Amino acid sequence: MSTITCKAAVAWGRGEAMVIEEVEVDPPQPMEIRIKVVCTSLCRSDVTQWESEAFAPLFPRIFGHEASGIVESIGEGVTEFKQGDHVITVFTGECMTCKHCTSGKSNMCQVLGMERRGLMHSDQKTRFSIKGKPVYHYCAVSSFSEYTVVHSGCAVKISSTVPLEKICLLSCGVAAGLGAAWKVADISEGSNVAIFGLGTVGLSVAQGARLRGASRIIGIDTNPEKYEKGKAFGVTDFINPADCGEPVQQVIKRITDGGADYSFECIGDTEMITTALQSCCDGWGVTITLGVPKVNPETKTHYGLLLSGKTLKGTLFGGWKPKSDLPSLVDMYMKKEIQVDEFITHNLAFEDINNAFELMREGKCLRCVIHMPKK
Ligand SMILES: NC(=O)c1ccc[n+]([C@@H]2O[C@H](COP(=O)([O-])OP(=O)(O)OC[C@H]3O[C@@H](n4cnc5c(N)ncnc54)[C@H](O)[C@@H]3O)[C@@H](O)[C@H]2O)c1
Ligand SMILES: [Zn+2]
Ligand SMILES: [Zn+2]
Repeated sequence: MSTITCKAAVAWGRGEAMVIEEVEVDPPQPMEIRIKVVCTSLCRSDVTQWESEAFAPLFPRIFGHEASGIVESIGEGVTEFKQGDHVITVFTGECMTCKHCTSGKSNMCQVLGMERRGLMHSDQKTRFSIKGKPVYHYCAVSSFSEYTVVHSGCAVKISSTVPLEKICLLSCGVAAGLGAAWKVADISEGSNVAIFGLGTVGLSVAQGARLRGASRIIGIDTNPEKYEKGKAFGVTDFINPADCGEPVQQVIKRITDGGADYSFECIGDTEMITTALQSCCDGWGVTITLGVPKVNPETKTHYGLLLSGKTLKGTLFGGWKPKSDLPSLVDMYMKKEIQVDEFITHNLAFEDINNAFELMREGKCLRCVIHMPKK
């Protein structure tokens, strides 16, 4: 196995357009696999991490974490994968042996959990370089590259019959929203649900709520175009906070006789966590927060909201354990039990990757799928 030289979209600085560069991709180390990326979609978390001052500036860096691809080579000790296997990547892995992986209660793997330093979990080094200078990873996935190296615990094998240009969405956003609705909130039939932010994550929560038989799914978004999009995923009522002339939580409380059973923060704005908590009902109301904040990662709320019996929970990847749980979501997609294709608003060639960032910044897309060169 030798180093591969290929093209990758490299971010050289905070908020600076990606530059397609020739990068060297090292061979996979023990328990790692090298993947030829086929498709990769852009998630809001990539954009936030790239432009926000709330995070340490780790540049140059290769972003991208919603991806599908084909195994090109395997590192020492890998038995689960072989060359040619189709896979999706995951930003939070499953080692199958740590306290969390064996607990049955959590997907917060202690070994392969979300990587925040831009390095590989195993040796704290990078597998990318440009003329010998290391290039940081993102979430130990870095799929905005023709080839990438991931830990074998951060990839899930899928059948070669699954369309790679669609299934990359299950790598993060769609799965995160469905899991928040099903695994974390465990929405029951007939309930009222309020969803703050109708991007792919919020609309995936809506889809999950509809499939559970929620009777009212209230979508809150400052972008009026999201209402039409929302209807297709089950949103029954739309509130634009700019239009309602009173605090949005008051509107929700009124139309739900005291508050929703479940509310979800899918924006990435910590102030909205309080609004979401105020929008759910006393006694059993649950607020689930999923957003990654662009600024001010601290949250503050009136203690009385909790004394009145409400619960606040957060979740990464909808609580799914990737290896244990994702195959059944892929099956549901293949049986047309869940919508995935409908989130794809744009298909772009790799060289147009900066357009995907612009579309998301401008609120004009749900998911842009970036197609890597076919060669
Ligand atoms: N927890 C996880 O596992 C996980 C996974 C994926 C994404 N995320 C995070 O979830 C959030 C949503 O991701 P996405 O890809 O759907 O993003 P997105 O940008 O496509 O969607 C966010 C939506 O919020 C709306 N919005 C923005 N400000 C608002 C406000 N003040 N009031 C009401 N609506 C507002 C926008 O118009 C947009 O429709 C992001 O913060 C992302 O980083 C978390
Ligand atoms: Zn994501
Ligand atoms: Zn683990």
